[in-house]
Amino acid sequence: MAQRIYVTQPIPEAGISKLTAATGVDVEVNPDDRVLTHEELVKAVRGRAGVLCLLTDRIDADVLQAADGCKVFANYAVGHDNIDVAEATRLKMLVTNTPGVLTEATADLAWALLFSAARRIVEADRFVREGRFVGWGPTLLLGADITGRTLGIIGAGRIGTAMALRSVGFGMNVIYTDLERNATLEEKTNARKVELDELLSEADFISTHVSLNEKTRHLIGSEQFARMKPTVVLVNSSRGAIFDEQALLEFLQRNPSAAAGLDVYENEPELTSGLSLLDNVVLLPHIGSATVGTRSRMAVMAAENLLKAINEETPPNLVNPEALEGDS
Ligand code: GLV
Ligand code: GLV
Repeated sequence: MAQRIYVTQPIPEAGISKLTAATGVDVEVNPDDRVLTHEELVKAVRGRAGVLCLLTDRIDADVLQAADGCKVFANYAVGHDNIDVAEATRLKMLVTNTPGVLTEATADLAWALLFSAARRIVEADRFVREGRFVGWGPTLLLGADITGRTLGIIGAGRIGTAMALRSVGFGMNVIYTDLERNATLEEKTNARKVELDELLSEADFISTHVSLNEKTRHLIGSEQFARMKPTVVLVNSSRGAIFDEQALLEFLQRNPSAAAGLDVYENEPELTSGLSLLDNVVLLPHIGSATVGTRSRMAVMAAENLLKAINEETPPNLVNPEALEGDS
């Protein structure tokens, strides 16, 4: 009997065709290009051998229990805070993600945010479109210097490291926080590992690259903002809830010379009220990995993870190896 697979929203064709080309599978893709409601999701996962899901799908205990007998939830994302991994593990369901393939695209976007926020690119574009450009001005839209200044990286994993490596071309000093020392980063950028408080007070630019979990939720709140320079430029391309968004809003309101470039929000797609009224913030709709090539590679990787899992092989990007424990 064919194994039934569900894909929660259309993903790039390369991933879909990988699934449909496999033997012994029956693939169903949600035909609507929208996020399923919780109720729809609970229904859709019933009787599936594997589910390919997105970071916008909240795979909680209800969904996992409804998917009784399902072997794998293959997330089309590197972050997997949308999935109750502990419950999946308890139910012996595998969870996979797509690490590595989106590192460069996300680091590129983090730099785009850094430049945009520092040099007021979006505000300046708006200025021109509104017909307000009446000629060069000696004090028109002054922004922050970038070259030679201090870049603080919070979380020197794959993406944080890729972000930091790009700073070499701008002659920046790099400081970082992480649980572990990152020898490659230190060698290639002369980066220095510091405590979070030191990073917050010394950095001219702060870019966050930690995954979201109980320890990192609201890592940056009012106490942390109080330590920062009033001219700091913040970049968040990881997960919105790393910041206390209300505290971020208040910091940006109080410090018009500070700026932020955000790709992610605490309660996506909602924004803290007032955020979109500020000129010193650049707002993007979670497009860190959104390049044609990257999304295609993510789709293939998620499909491969799913197919391995339903064929009782260990998928290459397994998030919860504990789910295999006790198996013969
Ligand atoms: C994107 O945010 C991802 O986690 O892949
Ligand atoms: C995410 O993939 C990271 O390790 O930065």
